[in-house]
Amino acid sequence: MKKKISIIFGTRPEAIKLCPVVLALKANPAFECKVCVTGQHREMLQQVLDVFGVVPDKDFALMRPNQTLGGLTSRAIAAIDGYLAEEKPDIVVVQGDTTTVLAGALAAFYHHIPIAHVEAGLRTWNMQSPWPEEANRVLTTRLTKWHFCPTENNKANLLKEGVPEKDIYVTGNTVIDALLMAKEKVHENPPEIEGLPIDLMKSKDRMVLITGHRRENFGEGFENICTAIRNLAERYTSTHFVYPVHLNPNVREPVGRILGQHCGKNVHLIEPQSYLPFVALMNRAYLVLTDSGGVQEEAPSLGKPVLVIRDTTERPEAVTAGTVKLIGTDQLCIEREVGALLTDAEAYKEMAESVNPYGDGAAVDRIIHILAT
Ligand code: UD1
Ligand code: UDP
Repeated sequence: MKKKISIIFGTRPEAIKLCPVVLALKANPAFECKVCVTGQHREMLQQVLDVFGVVPDKDFALMRPNQTLGGLTSRAIAAIDGYLAEEKPDIVVVQGDTTTVLAGALAAFYHHIPIAHVEAGLRTWNMQSPWPEEANRVLTTRLTKWHFCPTENNKANLLKEGVPEKDIYVTGNTVIDALLMAKEKVHENPPEIEGLPIDLMKSKDRMVLITGHRRENFGEGFENICTAIRNLAERYTSTHFVYPVHLNPNVREPVGRILGQHCGKNVHLIEPQSYLPFVALMNRAYLVLTDSGGVQEEAPSLGKPVLVIRDTTERPEAVTAGTVKLIGTDQLCIEREVGALLTDAEAYKEMAESVNPYGDGAAVDRIIHILAT
């Protein structure tokens, strides 16, 4: 009999990291795979579904403008609860650390359905950073049967919390599987980047690629980040600062206010990019300034230095390898660190090595093999 698997996700990064799992499960006759999306994200989720050609079997379309954590969590649990009561899968798969992950795991637990957690064992050991994601991970771990860890370090974190070793599998991160698929497509058919001057992708000018969305950076953090970018753009006039701005209104307000009037010459505020154009941008960038989790995993494998505008990271592997540096959100510190990479060739060379601590592109195969047994 086929194993019935429901894959539940809701945001852009979960979709990027789970669509390769969906495609492989659907191609495997041992499984009946259903895709259930909460729609925690809307446009940014749809962009990814379109790239991978995944059509959800269920879509709760839960996103509301500027949604609250409590409001979204309660609506997600209620929606997933009803879905699981009807669908009755043998296994629920969730990925990462968002509200959808915790809601999906809790609802599955209430139905006595075993849970597979993809990207398990990431920890900062600080419940306030990233907030609320660290709590989402820790709580999801307690409910999980199969813990699919990207790295040995993630496994060690789970062992410290008393998770039985027999339940932990080091698989690599499925983001590398997704990235390799995307890289090939981008190479075959270079995508257009809407909102950028037509020749920028081909020019020799340096490009700093920026993303940001963490809740703990709202307010002062984003004020500092944007002011630093504005000052850097004024100082380094032949470097282009390209920023696909996240749709969260708490991000768009300070970015528009502080950087909006500087757009045009070497500051480019663009809409969130679909996955293939974004991979093309990472590949084109000289360096990346970000608070994103996924970008911290992808950019090192493309040989791009990453400056992380956060105080903590649950991804220490690339920091240890020397291609990622944690710089916080102090304005002067951001200006100093970006400036150093733009002017000091030795410092740049030291960070611009291609390393791949997060996987070899075969994480999906390993996960499916384990779920099949
Ligand atoms: C969420 C996750 C975060 C993840 C990030 C990836 C939680 C608590 N946060 O943060 O862990 O790193 O996604 O990007 O789970 N919006 C849109 N359209 C979209 C997406 C968002 O308009 O496609 C706006 C809406 O106003 C929405 C707001 O952004 O209410 C916030 O979305 P939400 O998913 O709650 O938080 P993110 O900051 O996106
Ligand atoms: N990404 C994208 N378009 C963008 C910005 C990011 O496709 O405009 C991809 C990026 O390659 C990575 C993922 O989105 O795989 C990261 O998402 P995000 O930073 O929103 O979430 P996090 O990884 O921090 O949870």
